[in-house]
Amino acid sequence: MSKIQINTQSPHFPITPDLYGLFFEDINRAGDSGLYPEMLRNRAFEDSILPKGCTPLNDTFAFETPTGWRDAFNNGEGLTRWMDGLAPTHIPAWYAENAEITLNQTDTLNRNRLASLHVDFEDKGRLYNIGFHGISIEAGKVYDFYMFAKAPQDTLLQIQLEDTHGNVLAHSEVFLKASDSFERYDVSFLSSATDHNTRLVIASREPGGIQIGFTSLMPRDTYKGHGMRRDLMEMLSAMSPKFLRFPGGCIVEGFTKETIMRFKNIIGPVWERPSHMLMWHYRTTNGLGFHEYLQICEDLGANPLYVIHCGITCQGRGPIYLEGNELEELLQDACDAIDYATASADTNKWGALRAQNGHPKPFGMKYIEIGNENDGPEYLCRYKKFYNTLKERYPDIIFISNCHTENDGLPTEMVDEHYYRTPEYFQGHQDVFDSYDRNGPQIFVGEYAVTSGKHVGDLYSALGEAMYLTGIEKNQDIVKLTSYAPLFQNVNYTAWYPDLISYNNHEVSALPLYYIIQMMASNRGTHVADISLEGKSIYTENHGIPGLITYKNGVRIKNVLYNGKPAALTHQTVGSHIQTDNEYQLFVGPNSDIDIYAGADKSLKEICYVTFGDKPSCKITFEADIYLDSPDIPFAVALWNEHYPMLFAPDETCERSTEWSPVFTEHFSWFIKDGCGTGCTVHWLVDQPICEPVPLPIVAGEYMHLKVEADTTQILCYINDVPVQTIPMKKYPCTGACASCDENEIQLKIVNMSDSTDSVNIRLDVDVESAYEALVLTGDSPYARNDLAHPLNVAPVSCQKDGAGREFIFEAKPLSFNILKLKKA
Ligand code: AHR
Repeated sequence: MSKIQINTQSPHFPITPDLYGLFFEDINRAGDSGLYPEMLRNRAFEDSILPKGCTPLNDTFAFETPTGWRDAFNNGEGLTRWMDGLAPTHIPAWYAENAEITLNQTDTLNRNRLASLHVDFEDKGRLYNIGFHGISIEAGKVYDFYMFAKAPQDTLLQIQLEDTHGNVLAHSEVFLKASDSFERYDVSFLSSATDHNTRLVIASREPGGIQIGFTSLMPRDTYKGHGMRRDLMEMLSAMSPKFLRFPGGCIVEGFTKETIMRFKNIIGPVWERPSHMLMWHYRTTNGLGFHEYLQICEDLGANPLYVIHCGITCQGRGPIYLEGNELEELLQDACDAIDYATASADTNKWGALRAQNGHPKPFGMKYIEIGNENDGPEYLCRYKKFYNTLKERYPDIIFISNCHTENDGLPTEMVDEHYYRTPEYFQGHQDVFDSYDRNGPQIFVGEYAVTSGKHVGDLYSALGEAMYLTGIEKNQDIVKLTSYAPLFQNVNYTAWYPDLISYNNHEVSALPLYYIIQMMASNRGTHVADISLEGKSIYTENHGIPGLITYKNGVRIKNVLYNGKPAALTHQTVGSHIQTDNEYQLFVGPNSDIDIYAGADKSLKEICYVTFGDKPSCKITFEADIYLDSPDIPFAVALWNEHYPMLFAPDETCERSTEWSPVFTEHFSWFIKDGCGTGCTVHWLVDQPICEPVPLPIVAGEYMHLKVEADTTQILCYINDVPVQTIPMKKYPCTGACASCDENEIQLKIVNMSDSTDSVNIRLDVDVESAYEALVLTGDSPYARNDLAHPLNVAPVSCQKDGAGREFIFEAKPLSFNILKLKKA
C-alpha cells in the first residue's frame, strides 16, 4: 500500500504556465504528407538529387559528406531501389505510360529549383504521381492542384484523380498555351468518392512535349483554413500545448553548409523556397516554413520557440564550424527571423513582409534556442556571441542554451536537456530536479522518450515517462518547459521510432503517453501542492542472453554453459574470433558494420562483443572457462542482452540489419578490471557502476572457471566455484504522484507501474466532497499499445467515484495512470 499526504493549505508555488508544449521536427515525413498536407511526393522533382558536395555510396542508397558523414539517401531508396510494393521509377513517385520522363537540371522554374520535369507524351500519354503511399481523398471534399508548366505548342491536359483500377474519381482540364516561359495553372477537384489509394494523373491525348517546374495538390479543408492537416492539428490542439519548439532538432544543424536550416530559405512563395535535404534522409520543399510555423503556434495558442543555427553543423555527423562572415550571416538570419515574427509592419522590412504574407499583427516570439544539441568550446564562444547580440537587441525574449553554459561563466537563462533512455531510467529519476540549484538557470526538458529496452512506445514505457513527469510537476519552479520527441511519424516513412503521433494518409493514432500528457496538461490547477509519498518499488524484469565483452586481445573462452547446457557463440557483434572445437580466441575490433547505427561510438571498435545461446531468459546461469594472457586485461560478462529492433534505421526501406546489436540493448555486466569486479548497467555500451568494486582472485596464464547466477534481484559471481561477489540488483520506484490545486479542486496524479492494484492511502488537510471524478488510463498488459487500427486501445476513461475525505483509499489499478479530481467541500 502506498501512502500520500497532501498539504494544500500552504501551496508550494504557482504552476508554470508553459510546462507542456510540443517539439516539431520534420522527421519521418512529418512536414509534407504530415502536418503540411502536400499530397504529391517529390512535387518539385528534386528527391533524386544528391545534396551538394556529397558523393554517392553503395549504389546510391547512401552518400558521404565532405567531412565523412554517411547517410541514407532518398528515404533509403537511393536511385535504384524501391519501397515494397512500388514499381521502379527513376524519378521518385512519378511514373509515365506512353510517355517518357526526364529531369532537366538546367531549365528550371527559378534559380532556387534544382530540376524540372520534361515529359514527352506519345499518343494517349500519361504521367502520374502516387503520393505518399497513395493519395487519400474523401467524397464531397475539394482538392486544389496547381503546377507551373510550359510547352512549345498549345496542349490540352487532362488532370484527374484515379483509383488503382483507372476509374476517374475527380477530373479537370488545363490548357497550356504555347509559351517558352513557365506559367501557373490551377484546378480544383470535387471528389466523387472516398479512396485512400488514388494517384494524380496528368494526361495528354495528343503527342508532344511539356515541361513542369513545380506541382502541388492539397486538401481545401484544413485546420482553421490555414493550410495544415486538420486531424493532426486537432490531435495537437487536444494536448493544450503552451509552446511549440521548431523547426528542429538535428535538421536545424545540417551536415554541410548547404543543409543548414536558414530562415531566408523558408519564407516566400513555396515554389521559390529552395528544397532542403534533411538529416532524416529525404528532401522537403519547405512549404512548411517560418510563417506557417508561427501561424500554427497562433492557431494552437502556443508560444513560439524557434531554434536558430549558431554556426555549428551537427557535431555528431562530422561538424563544420562556421566563422567570420558566414557566422555573421547566421546571426543576421536569426535577427531577421525574430523581426519577421515580432517587428512592426510599418517600420521594419521583415515586419512588412509578414504583413504582405497575410499577418499584419506581429506573431510574437517568446523563446529562442541558440543551436541544437551543441556543446564544447566551439559552442561556448558562439553561444556567447549570439546571446550577447540577441539579448541586447531582444531583451524580452527568453534565450535557451544547449548545455550548462553557466558553468563556464556565461549568462544562462534556460538550459535544454535531452533524455532518450529506458523506462527504468525515468522511474529512477523522478526526483532528479529536486537537487537542481534554484539560483541556477531554468530547465527545458526539450526532448525525452523511452527509446531503449524492451518497452518502447507501449503502456509500460509511458508509465515510466509519467513517473518522470510527476517529478517534473513537483519541480516546475525550475523546470519550465517539457516536450516529448519526436512528435510525428508517417508510418510508411519511419526514420525514428517511437513518435508521439503516427499517421498514414488518412488515419491517426498516438502513443499511450500522448494521452497521459493530455491528461496532465489539462488538469493543472493554479498551484503546486506539497505532497509526500511513500510508494512501492520493484525490480525490473530483465530478459535476454548472456555474452562476453573483452577490451584487449589475449582472451580465450571455452566450455560455455548457459542455464546448464553447452552453448555456442551466437553473435559476434564487434571484433572477431577464431574457434577451435569449443574454444574461442577473441579479438577486439575493428568492425565497420557497426557504423551504420547512428549514435554508435567509435570506441566500439576497440572491443570484442560475443553472445552465447539464443533463447532469452529472465534467470541466467552462465559458466565458462576463461584464459587471460595477462591479469590486467579488462573483460565483462554481459547479462540479458536482447535483440531489439533497430530504432534509428535510415528508413524502413533500407535493409535494416537483423543482426543482434549491442547498441540497442540495455544490459547488466559483471565488469572486471585491474583485479576488481563491479556490477554495471550498460546503456549504449557506456557502463554505469551499480555497486562498489570488490577485489577478485584473477589469474593469468591458466584457465579460471567463471560462474554467474543472475535473477531479477541479484547477480551471484563465482571464480573456480568460490563465491567472490554478490551484486544486488537495483529496485526502481513504481509509484509516482504529484498534486496541484486551485480554489475549488485538488488534482492528484498517481502512477502505479506495478502489476498489482495499489490501495493508495490518501490523506488531505482539507475537507473534500465524497464524490469525485477519476481519469484512469490503463491497459491489459505492459506491452499494450495503440496503432492505426486500434487508436484508442490505451486511452483515458472517466470514472465517477465515491468515498473521498480527509483520509481515504484509492484503488490504483495495475499499470495505471490516474488523475483524481477532488472537489473542496
Ligand atoms: O528527436 C530526434 C532527434 O534527437 C533530434 O533531431 C535531435 O535533437 C535529437 O538528437
